[in-house]
Amino acid sequence: MPTQLKYDTSLSKNTDLALIVAADQVTTLSELQPKEQQYVQEQVQQEAKLVSLNRYSHRVYVVVAPDGKTEAAKKEALRQAGHALLKQLKNDNAQQITLLDKTATEASLCVAEGLYLSNYQFQKHKTKDAKPSTLQTITVADEQVSKQAVQELANVLEAVYKVRDLVNEPHSHQSATQLSEQLEALGQEAGFNMQVLDLIMIQSLKMGGLIAVNQGSEEPATFNILEYKPENAKNTKPYVLVGKGVVYDTGGLSLKPTPNSMDYMKSDMAGAAAVTGILYAVAKNKLPIHLVCLIPATDNRPGGNAVAPGDVITMHNGMTVEVLNTDAEGRLILADALSFAKKYDPELVIDFATLTGSAMRAVGKEGLVVMGTAGDEVMAALKKAGDNVHERTVEFPLWDEYKKQLESDIADLKNLGGADAGHITAGKFLEAFTSYPWVHFDIAGTAYLHNEDSYRGKLATGSGVRLVYNFLSAL
Ligand code: BES
Ligand code: MN
Ligand code: ZN
Repeated sequence: MPTQLKYDTSLSKNTDLALIVAADQVTTLSELQPKEQQYVQEQVQQEAKLVSLNRYSHRVYVVVAPDGKTEAAKKEALRQAGHALLKQLKNDNAQQITLLDKTATEASLCVAEGLYLSNYQFQKHKTKDAKPSTLQTITVADEQVSKQAVQELANVLEAVYKVRDLVNEPHSHQSATQLSEQLEALGQEAGFNMQVLDLIMIQSLKMGGLIAVNQGSEEPATFNILEYKPENAKNTKPYVLVGKGVVYDTGGLSLKPTPNSMDYMKSDMAGAAAVTGILYAVAKNKLPIHLVCLIPATDNRPGGNAVAPGDVITMHNGMTVEVLNTDAEGRLILADALSFAKKYDPELVIDFATLTGSAMRAVGKEGLVVMGTAGDEVMAALKKAGDNVHERTVEFPLWDEYKKQLESDIADLKNLGGADAGHITAGKFLEAFTSYPWVHFDIAGTAYLHNEDSYRGKLATGSGVRLVYNFLSAL
């Protein structure tokens, strides 16, 4: 049962209520009786951030709005407060909660966001011991917030849930073809179109990278084109999003070890899921933007006909690549999609991929690695959007010196760089297939977590969706 987030200012009497207040406001809360007020005041003096009052027919929670140095830090602290509130609500088996903001700052939206994202669960494969969260409905009851703003946020957060579902789904239930079906279902729901190119089409388009990666597999690759083109679109040239859809990465013949490596490579389609989630949110909110997603999808396996280290392949744009490590497969399938993107004459292309362990080692789970050629203005806007939603980005350079690492003795490029700066050489590889303003996000560190991290949860996080939605909606 997905969480519901709605807007309703008609406070009913016995509903569980969360009051969001500034620390100095606790003496003036008309919602509290004098005794309650005194108790809350005492608690807050002792630095309590969340005070819970049991009124037997319902509960009242007082959430002390945390301070922050910047607007972004304040918002993030409120999301964290939402996460803390959810822990309490779970303890109390609350089924619904109404948020009322006394600070007059739209704080309830951020608390709702933290609550909603923390309440995510993936239990479809549990036949017993499933412990569904009792919380079903979050109601924002603030006059200062518009119904439309709540609905818009609800659609974005629902998109994050969809992305997490896609990424958490194991490969046993998600071949490339099944992924295409799952994306198609999301298109039906949100109102975007989708075209699935099968292996025959992929071959006739000469997508040599996607074909090579798919060669060792029993399951055919797909190339997915998702499109949202509203009549009122403000852009004449489309924005194109490209997502890495490796539904399972064994490494191929350059086989991965199992623990902490291959064992979670069902998540190697998180880029594909992220771009679909962005499209889902844009379509549901009917943003006036023409948006296209390109998703090459396949598993990467060492089957009989698998591409072998040392093979040379010809890519969609005609360039040749010496495949020296079959585990550097993401860049091969993305390169074909980036080359295909040219035909759209795009305003901007943004790709998302769980591309390198090197990106993860560089910034861990705390930031998305970004690089690109789209220019300072776009990079600054993306950074700002990321700060707004606390999906922070760290930009790395695409200096041409790094390209030397990709020189092949016998082909135009090789798919493997040296020991250092692997996320940058991967970016340089992709750059060679772009001919328009382009941004690359490496989400290897942020897409899938092994331990709970507040409202980002454990396992799939939905990394990238809130960031790019924020960027696009601000255009
Ligand atoms: N899917 C992996 C990258 C990855 C690693 C994602 C860890 C999430 C967590 C990618 O296909 C890969 O195997 N990259 C190699 C590239 C190398 C062989 C140049 C890597 O980073 O080790
Ligand atoms: Mn790989
Ligand atoms: Zn991979």
